[in-house]
Amino acid sequence: MNSLEIKKKFIEFFRSKGHKEIPNVPLIPENDPTSLFIMAGMQPLSPYFGGEPHPTGDKLVNIQRCVRTDDIEEVGDTIHQTFFEMLGYWSLGAYFKKEAIEMSFEFYTSQEWLGLDPERIYATVFEGDNDAPRDEEAIEIWKKIFKNVGIRAEVYDKKKKDNSSARIFPLNKKENWWGPVGESGPCGPDSEFFYWRGKDKPDFSEFVPYDNSNMFIEIGNDVFMAYNKTKEGKYEPLKQKNIDFGGGMERIALVCTLREKDGSVPYNFTNFNTDLFDTPLSYLRSLVEDESRKSTREENEDAENITEFDLTLTDFNNPSQAVKAFRVILDHTRACTFLVADGIEPSNKDQGYILRRLLRRSVRHAKLIGIEGTFTKDIAKLYIDKYKIQYPHLADMQNKILNILEKEEINFENSIKIGAKEIDKLEASGKKITGKDLFNIFETYGFPIEMALDELGIEKDELRMKYQREFDKAKEKHQELSRKGSKGKFKGGLADSSEITKRYHTATHLLLRALQEVLGDHVHQRGSNITEERLRFDFSQSEQLTDEQKKEVERLVNDKIKAGLKVLKKVMPKEEALKIGAECEFPEKYPDQVSIYEVEGFTKEFCGGPHVENTKELAKSGKFRIIKEESVGSGVRRIKAVLQ
Ligand code: SER
Repeated sequence: MNSLEIKKKFIEFFRSKGHKEIPNVPLIPENDPTSLFIMAGMQPLSPYFGGEPHPTGDKLVNIQRCVRTDDIEEVGDTIHQTFFEMLGYWSLGAYFKKEAIEMSFEFYTSQEWLGLDPERIYATVFEGDNDAPRDEEAIEIWKKIFKNVGIRAEVYDKKKKDNSSARIFPLNKKENWWGPVGESGPCGPDSEFFYWRGKDKPDFSEFVPYDNSNMFIEIGNDVFMAYNKTKEGKYEPLKQKNIDFGGGMERIALVCTLREKDGSVPYNFTNFNTDLFDTPLSYLRSLVEDESRKSTREENEDAENITEFDLTLTDFNNPSQAVKAFRVILDHTRACTFLVADGIEPSNKDQGYILRRLLRRSVRHAKLIGIEGTFTKDIAKLYIDKYKIQYPHLADMQNKILNILEKEEINFENSIKIGAKEIDKLEASGKKITGKDLFNIFETYGFPIEMALDELGIEKDELRMKYQREFDKAKEKHQELSRKGSKGKFKGGLADSSEITKRYHTATHLLLRALQEVLGDHVHQRGSNITEERLRFDFSQSEQLTDEQKKEVERLVNDKIKAGLKVLKKVMPKEEALKIGAECEFPEKYPDQVSIYEVEGFTKEFCGGPHVENTKELAKSGKFRIIKEESVGSGVRRIKAVLQ
């Protein structure tokens, strides 16, 4: 079964169970400064876990593109990735644990669907703490499910002598509690599905499961979203009990591949061996294939640990480094392709910085396996071909994606040259060079420490490690500073629907309409970001606003606040909403049924909310005031405004 078939089956299965498909949204969260990227399919649904009705319904399904960058440095092992797709389904108060676990199990194991061997499935549940009890309900559900397929399933207990029938593992909050995405918001205990990939049964007398052995692959997670974590750190019950399921596409593709091979393939046959990466992988291989190196293959002592996928890599002096390089390049170039397609360009800030880092890491790893010259655009093209059926915007953006990647790659080559010159200068100064100096060069020019050490001719492992430690210390200090800097930035947002952020959401609608009245109907939203401290709004407009225009916009917004206009939510078909002139930045992003927020007699906009009920509530924060107006690119201007 290839990956497209798996995706189709997933949607088809949950449709047959009464779920409706919602669109896959861009990687950059709209109106949600709690995170830089969409990192789970549930993120755009945050406002609906609290009881706000979703316009499409209360049983939803989709496949969402996601990016997680917490573990960038780990990419290259057998499991970590930055970009991935998440298969997701949700119940917004419609059903709860029993139905969810049963449906997930049926999808994974039924011959009609994925047909995984139930003998290979293991489950985890929340073990309980002061915030929520041990999940006895999930344990009972699991026991029955296993019993129905003739499997004896006991709860793992490390005090027991014999755990050979253990199938259900209670684990702590770190492992079995999901969310919230930001500081506060919806969250809950979860139950995860694991697939055992070993030849024989796992031996629980010898090790605690779900360690880092990677013999268990996590293929799905049913989150029982029934709590809201407050800013003060308390867990309060939500008005309704929700299900938030997420399953990593790449891992599911892997276990389906293993299934066809009877689970008997070696441990480091990974996500990267699935059809999701096949054409980029073949291309990479062709770049490094070199007949002259083949003679060393037999002698290489690591060769037996290398899988069929990695055969050519045994030609390298350091095969595990080469395996890592392949995985890093495959992962990072895919992430870069999707990020540029969603409008990100390389920069030194936020999402642009991550894009730059991913691309540079790809280039650096490519050099380690002897790839010279630009290559990222060629791999990006293969990903575009592979994914464009599902994501047509990749094909539309193809030229832009390829140009940006190539340009950035060439820029990086230049940084490497400049970095090498900086190292020469340091050497010439006669000063003792430290890891901190290398960090400074890295920060300023993006010149990686590994390359710097090569440049300095430092070969001995201990010495390299000493530099690395100093480098890491300087980096940590720097990160601490930027974390402090971003703390204010990432609080609030849609995931947290505090009264203050709601006021700013409504103020944003008033601002857009006021701008249209003052400047003209060419003004449309080009981006929006809200925190508890201010709103930031990007809009289409070429010229700078005059002082008079700014004053007029402020006056209009404040008038509407004073007038105490009702804010009404209406659900209707998308076509109808467009017909009545509701403002909308990307109509294609919305499902067939949409919700519209109307500020009575003034503005109508496509929006998921939440908003205040009457504009007079904005006055509780104060008067609307524009504090900054600037250009952020050709034809786009940005306003920062406060209610004070
Ligand atoms: N939110 C959960 C996760 O990301 C399930 O969708 O794992």
